[in-house]
Amino acid sequence: MSGLSASPVSTADAATGAGPRHVAIIMDGNGRWAKRRFLPRVAGHRAGAEAVRVTVKAAADMGLKALTLYAFSSENWRRSTEEVSDLMGLLRHYLRKEIAGMDRNGIRLRTIGNIDGLDNELINLVREGVERTKNNRRLDFVLALNYGAQDEMVRAIRDIATDVQSGVLAPEDIDPAAIEARLDTSDLPPLDLLIRTSGERRLSNFLLWQAAYAELLFVDTLWPDFDGEALAAAIADFGTRERRFGGR
Ligand code: IPE
Ligand code: IPE
Ligand code: MG
Repeated sequence: MSGLSASPVSTADAATGAGPRHVAIIMDGNGRWAKRRFLPRVAGHRAGAEAVRVTVKAAADMGLKALTLYAFSSENWRRSTEEVSDLMGLLRHYLRKEIAGMDRNGIRLRTIGNIDGLDNELINLVREGVERTKNNRRLDFVLALNYGAQDEMVRAIRDIATDVQSGVLAPEDIDPAAIEARLDTSDLPPLDLLIRTSGERRLSNFLLWQAAYAELLFVDTLWPDFDGEALAAAIADFGTRERRFGGR
């Protein structure tokens, strides 16, 4: 990434009408799914974890390069201690159970977000999973953990300030590429499609920078009901979009 032509958005695939390379999902609606069944919220999160498993496998089979899932936001700490602890427990359980299968399927685990804010056991599980799958190339499965786009930008800006202060970076060299290089997503393909389930139509502090030219899709499906078929439908919808990137 260099020079005046550097663009924050790669148009390589998208402009030619190819399928999305990088899809991100705001997995919402676990609580409502459980409520409809008169079950505790944790039952919804458990069913949501199963939807993650099938969706990741489907994404790899469909040839996506990256799938980013919003698993826990930097604002989700505001939930009850019980729910936070249930979510963290499920994340630990998920990682313990699924890493081997991911590895077998050529899936590389990554994370975005402030991982340091998680408990040590979870940090270690994440590190082990990332290390074990680091040579896989079929699909990047990116878990957004303790992720908030504003927090990500604050960390990037601090990094830039430090580089400016130490003389490594001149203020006039701060451009979109310099910022992108410091985001958690720096080595992922540009975001093509951002999906939110459960009928809510907001971004809730997810990938705000990266969504600049992403296609947005809001579906009513509650996250635990999401699956490969739902992902295929989303990708088909993406195929009908005309992306312009401001250029036409
Ligand atoms: C999404 O489901 C899971 C997380 C945010 C971790 P919710 O728990 O937000 O479910 P609703 O929105 O209450 O239905
Ligand atoms: C966004 O969902 C966070 C995740 C899916 C992890 P929320 O359910 O927390 O978002 P709000 O509170 O409805 O905006
Ligand atoms: Mg929600």
